[in-house]
Amino acid sequence: MNILIINGPNLNLLGTRETEIYGNSTYKVLVQYIKKYAKVHKVSVKIYQSNHEGKIIDYIQKHQKKYQAIIINPGAFTHYSYAIRDCLSAYSLKKIEVHLSNIYEREDFRKVSVIKDVVDMSVLGKGFDSYIEAIDLLLKGEIK
Ligand code: DQA
Repeated sequence: MNILIINGPNLNLLGTRETEIYGNSTYKVLVQYIKKYAKVHKVSVKIYQSNHEGKIIDYIQKHQKKYQAIIINPGAFTHYSYAIRDCLSAYSLKKIEVHLSNIYEREDFRKVSVIKDVVDMSVLGKGFDSYIEAIDLLLKGEIK
């Protein structure tokens, strides 16, 4: 299985950004952690990060054909990007939204995900393991 993993704005700052919420490990460590898990489980992952809404949309539009599934942490775009929502809706590949933190237990503005209704599943609040759980859901065929 080929999985596209997209990370939105400020996720590149992991390790220094709000460490009490997101932890002390860096973005590089997250990428290595996902890649190692993928290798052991024989799945191919491509991981892309951008701080720009349009770049995320361009990337998905340009490359989605090569993938069976997309795992996306849209960062703050989760809460207001109808453009990313529309982009995800346009394609029929399997889609999982992930978040390091539990957005439903934080500030009110984070409790709204405009992405939620256009993905097959959301995995929240498990730190780096949110990505691992998303990969597992795909591998176990739990998303039809
Ligand atoms: C986040 C939660 C968002 O509210 C926030 O803007 C992020 C990270 C998470 O992974 O918990 O950038 O998506």
